[in-house]
Amino acid sequence: MPFLRIQEMSHDFGGLRAVHNYNLEIGLGQIRGLIGPNGAGKTTIFNLITGIYMPTEGEILLDGKKINGLQPHQIASMGVSRTFQNLLLWRHMTVVEHVKMAHYSKISYGLFGAFFGTSKRQREEAEIEEKAYTLLEMMGIRHLSDQVVLNLPYGAQRRVEMARALATEPKILLLDEPTAGMNPEELVQIMDIIRRAHGELGLAILLIEHRMKVVMELCEIIQTLDFGQVIAEGTPKEIQNDPKVIDAYLGKERPI
Ligand SMILES: Nc1ncnc2c1ncn2[C@@H]1O[C@H](COP(=O)(O)OP(=O)(O)O)[C@@H](O)[C@H]1O
Ligand SMILES: [Mg+2]
Repeated sequence: MPFLRIQEMSHDFGGLRAVHNYNLEIGLGQIRGLIGPNGAGKTTIFNLITGIYMPTEGEILLDGKKINGLQPHQIASMGVSRTFQNLLLWRHMTVVEHVKMAHYSKISYGLFGAFFGTSKRQREEAEIEEKAYTLLEMMGIRHLSDQVVLNLPYGAQRRVEMARALATEPKILLLDEPTAGMNPEELVQIMDIIRRAHGELGLAILLIEHRMKVVMELCEIIQTLDFGQVIAEGTPKEIQNDPKVIDAYLGKERPI
């Protein structure tokens, strides 16, 4: 059974049908790509999966359980994590604080422990710290742990966001244009990180991306969306040669 299954999902903003009869199946350990012109509905699909919006029609199943209508934090606790098209970081918080904050969403010591510093609390704090540093190591930004995010280059900020997304120990990771605005060197690094998140953590990954090099190299199957509808689905090679995709997207000028 696929870990995430979406069946005939549609979403309306007032009179605009932003997503139309969308279907997806993605199993643990699979990387899928989602491409298409600006305004096609890609980010809306992420917002629907993560519970920011509730689908007008259709079903979203996670591990076989229907999640339509659940709150974002409930869906997150079921193993769904994401990054955002526009970076959402706390400018004055340090790198390690970002990752620890995300871990706190999972901790179990109660109010009593928080006030009185029980040994359980101390143990959990130590564990959170260790996990945070392990993740930062994996992202190649451990040496920046105590820097405030504001001072970091853009590529490093993106990696902080990725570390934060992984800190909740998700089973599926939704990446919304993770390479937007990156220089070629940062691009290679982030691709390596996505590969490692996939390979070492065995996650399912759904990737929205404009750079064809990235999608083509990372994804097994790619969907192309246009005006809220999937117009093509297939391997990178099939997608690259599909006249509908070329017409709606690949043949057009886009931001790099
Ligand atoms: N909160 C919203 N309210 C109204 N319309 C929206 C909202 N969010 C997105 N849209 C519209 O839905 C369509 C799809 O947007 P979006 O999912 O952001 O596209 P993409 O991520 O593919 O560029 C666009 O026409 C956009 O203007
Ligand atoms: Mg978008």
